[in-house]
Amino acid sequence: KLTRAFTFFIKDLCWPYGHEVRGRKILKLKRFLFFLLLLLQFSRNIMPSEASEDMECIPSTSKAPPVKPSQKKHLPWIEKYRPTKFEDIVGNADTVSRLGIFATQGNVPNIIIAGPPGVGKTTTILCLARILLGASFREAVLELNASNERGIDVVRNKIKMFAQQKVTLPPSRQKIVILDEADSMTEGAQQALRRTMEIYSSTTRFALACNNSEKIIEPIQSRCAMLRFTKLSDAQILAKLIQVSQLEGLEYTAEGLEAIVFTAQGDMRQALNNLQSTANGFGSIKPDNVFKVCDEPHPILVQEMLEHCSQGDIHKAYKIMAKLWKLGYSAEDIIGNIFRVSKRMNLDEKVKLYFIREIGETHMKIVDGNNSLVQMSGLLARLCELSHKFQ
Ligand SMILES: Nc1ncnc2c1ncn2[C@@H]1O[C@H](COP(=O)(O)OP(=O)(O)OP(=O)(O)O)[C@@H](O)[C@H]1O
Ligand SMILES: [Mg+2]
Repeated sequence: KLTRAFTFFIKDLCWPYGHEVRGRKILKLKRFLFFLLLLLQFSRNIMPSEASEDMECIPSTSKAPPVKPSQKKHLPWIEKYRPTKFEDIVGNADTVSRLGIFATQGNVPNIIIAGPPGVGKTTTILCLARILLGASFREAVLELNASNERGIDVVRNKIKMFAQQKVTLPPSRQKIVILDEADSMTEGAQQALRRTMEIYSSTTRFALACNNSEKIIEPIQSRCAMLRFTKLSDAQILAKLIQVSQLEGLEYTAEGLEAIVFTAQGDMRQALNNLQSTANGFGSIKPDNVFKVCDEPHPILVQEMLEHCSQGDIHKAYKIMAKLWKLGYSAEDIIGNIFRVSKRMNLDEKVKLYFIREIGETHMKIVDGNNSLVQMSGLLARLCELSHKFQ
């Protein structure tokens, strides 16, 4: 009886037809719609919405297609471990904390973040936009990078249209236009941006990221707060590498991670990429594996060569140089490596300074096109001569 009563109740509730009286029909229809609405609300609460999932899974860009958590393991590590909060961003603490204050107060000026590659400029801007805009992140951010058409027409049409567009925002927040790799924008486009920045200043903020701030025209620089990012220190990169290695359950040695830090040269993107390549290629993170993957002259070999130079032994030093040359490394690869190794070497301070000067001068010659083995041998000869002088 109970089941029958329940079925009747549901039928009665859901089925708006079959009744003669018109008013009653409308009432039933209203009830039916209300019931549907309830059902919809209920299903939404039970199943997590796709939008919130996206926010967590795709930190890399505001308009990327959704990635399911199960697909996350196939992401390159630079994307998988891209920070989504300011606290996770390594290094440049002063600049990041300044941005943190802007974000909490909500009063963000137009900003330019300038700095070398792979130190977290794009990441920082995306974090800022995410904190400021919360759930409106997708609609209220226009992200343009060097892969997009960014001539004068885009500024005139796309950026202006976005600035005029009405979007629901959290209180006292503005839309954000992210111009990544802004140093590749043409001067015309930058000129066109000047007035747009002012006209829509009450509704839109601009965040620019670039490697070379000199390529941003002065009037744009004067409209923005300039924030400079520097290369990350070896300790900062090492800490991140340890964290990622542990999360990925990698087999690693301290020397292996140090080798990655050496090859990365303050670039976190390069460090994570090298870590992943070594892990995929060899499984364990050891110096030999790292230098095979990164295809750099082995620093231990280079260090040995410089030690021979510091003892004034040109024959032994030349043997190593000839070996490196035979392995196919270019003069630029070798000289860069010699410079980095010489900085870390345990030499008398004065000798070290002279060594670095000689290495720098040879580097200049190589960049000018004198990139033969003779140049490299000449460098070794001069270094040996210096050592004899100081002995
Ligand atoms: N400071 C950092 N802290 C943590 N991870 C970082 C940091 N900098 C870079 N990374 C890692 O490197 C990746 C690339 O960083 P990002 O895109 O922000 O570099 P960028 O400074 O914009 O470089 P580019 O000038 O080449 O555009 C990130 O996905 C992240 O995994
Ligand atoms: Mg970038």
